[in-house]
Amino acid sequence: MSVLFEPFEFSGIRMRNRFVRSATVNNLTDENNRFTPAHRKLYTDLARGGVGLIIAGVHRPKREWFLGHPFRQPCLDAPGVEEELGSLGEEVHRLGARLVSQISPPFRIRGKQVSGSAIDVHLVPEPLDEEDMAEMREAYRNAGRVLKAARCDGIQLHCCHNDVLSRMISPFFNRRTDRYGGSPKNRARLVLELVQEIKEGAGEDFPVMIKMNASDFREGGMSVDEAAEMASILVEGGICAIEPSCGGAGSSHTPSGPVRKEEWHEGYLVEYAARIKHVVDVPVMVVGGLRRLEMMEEIVLTGKGDLISMCRPFIREPDLIRRWASGDTSPSKCISCDGCLKETIRGRKLRCVQKEKDAARG
Ligand SMILES: Cc1cc2nc3c(=O)[nH]c(=O)nc-3n(C[C@H](O)[C@H](O)[C@H](O)COP(=O)(O)O)c2cc1C
Ligand code: SF4
Repeated sequence: MSVLFEPFEFSGIRMRNRFVRSATVNNLTDENNRFTPAHRKLYTDLARGGVGLIIAGVHRPKREWFLGHPFRQPCLDAPGVEEELGSLGEEVHRLGARLVSQISPPFRIRGKQVSGSAIDVHLVPEPLDEEDMAEMREAYRNAGRVLKAARCDGIQLHCCHNDVLSRMISPFFNRRTDRYGGSPKNRARLVLELVQEIKEGAGEDFPVMIKMNASDFREGGMSVDEAAEMASILVEGGICAIEPSCGGAGSSHTPSGPVRKEEWHEGYLVEYAARIKHVVDVPVMVVGGLRRLEMMEEIVLTGKGDLISMCRPFIREPDLIRRWASGDTSPSKCISCDGCLKETIRGRKLRCVQKEKDAARG
C-alpha cells in the first residue's frame, strides 16, 4: 500500500491517511453568516470521500471585519456557532476524517481597510495600530475558545495571499519602525501573540497551524530563504504544521499558481515547500497543482513534505481519495481552469463549472 494511505499523526491529531483538503471559500453561509445544511453536505461528502484532514473555511473570527467583502463565510462570533460546528464536526469524525478550521485576519477593522504598513499596489490601506491589534488578540482568543468547544481538531491561521498577517511577516509590506517591524522576529510578533491568545482560549495543547506564503514572488518581497527563516521562528513560537502557499496582488503568482499560465506546472510549490521542510521539525503540507498520485508519493518518499494538500481536485471530485484507494489511480479530473475560483470571487456558491460542462456534453 502507498505510504499516502497509511495513518499519520501529529500534535495529537490522528489522520487515517496523508491527504488534506486545503481551505476553500464556499459562500454557503446564510445571510447571518451561520453554517447551513450545505456546509454539512460539503464536509460530509469530503469525509465520506476519504480525505484524512479537512481544513474547513475560511472562517471569520469577527463578522464586522468583513462587512462588504464578496466572500460570505461563517463567523465565529455568530450566536449558536459552537453547536452548529460541533454537530458538523461530530459527523465528520464519525466518517473517519479530522476537522480543522482556517481563520482569516481582518479585511477591515474599526471601519478602515488595514495592512501591516501603508504599502500597497492599488490602494493604500492604513497600518494596524495598537487598538486594532488588541481587538485582533481578543477575537483570536474567542475563536480558540469557540473551536475548542466545538471539538475541532485544530486551527489554521490564514497568513498568506496578501492578507494583513502575511503583510506583517513580509519585508516588502511591513515597513514599520515599532516592535512589529524590522527583524524577522519583530515581523512575526503579532502572529505569535495571536497563537498565544488562541492557546489561552483553547488550551495550551490545541494544535495551531499556519498557511503562509512560501515566497512573495515579487521584487523586494520575502524570498523562499526568508520564508524558511520565518517558518522556523513561527514553529519555535508554537506553530505545529505549515502549509506553504503563494499569491497576492502585484505578485507573479495567485493562490492557484503562476499568473503566466505557461509557467504553471504540476506541483508548482513542491521545491519551495521542501526548502521550508528542510528547516522545521513539524509536518509540512504541500499544496499547489498536485494532480497525480505518483508525484505525491514521491514528495513524501523523498522527504520534501509530509502531507499532501489539495483544493481544486476535491471541488471536482470530493470522493477522489476513495477512488484512488479503490485502485483507479488515474490523475485528478481537475483541469485547473479556475472556473470555481471565478465563481466564488463573484460571491457565488462553490462549484466545479467544468464538471457541469462535461455532464451537459454527456
Ligand atoms: C475556489 C477556491 C477557493 C479558495 N479558498 C481559499 C481559502 O479560503 N483559504 C486559503 O488559504 N486558500 C484558498 N484557496 C487556495 C487553495 O487552498 C490552494 O492553496 C490553491 O488552490 C492551490 O491548490 P490546488 O492546486 O490543489 O487547488 C482557494 C482556491 C480556490 C480555487
Ligand atoms: S472549475 Fe476548473 S479548476 Fe475548478 S475544480 Fe472544476 S476543473 Fe478544477
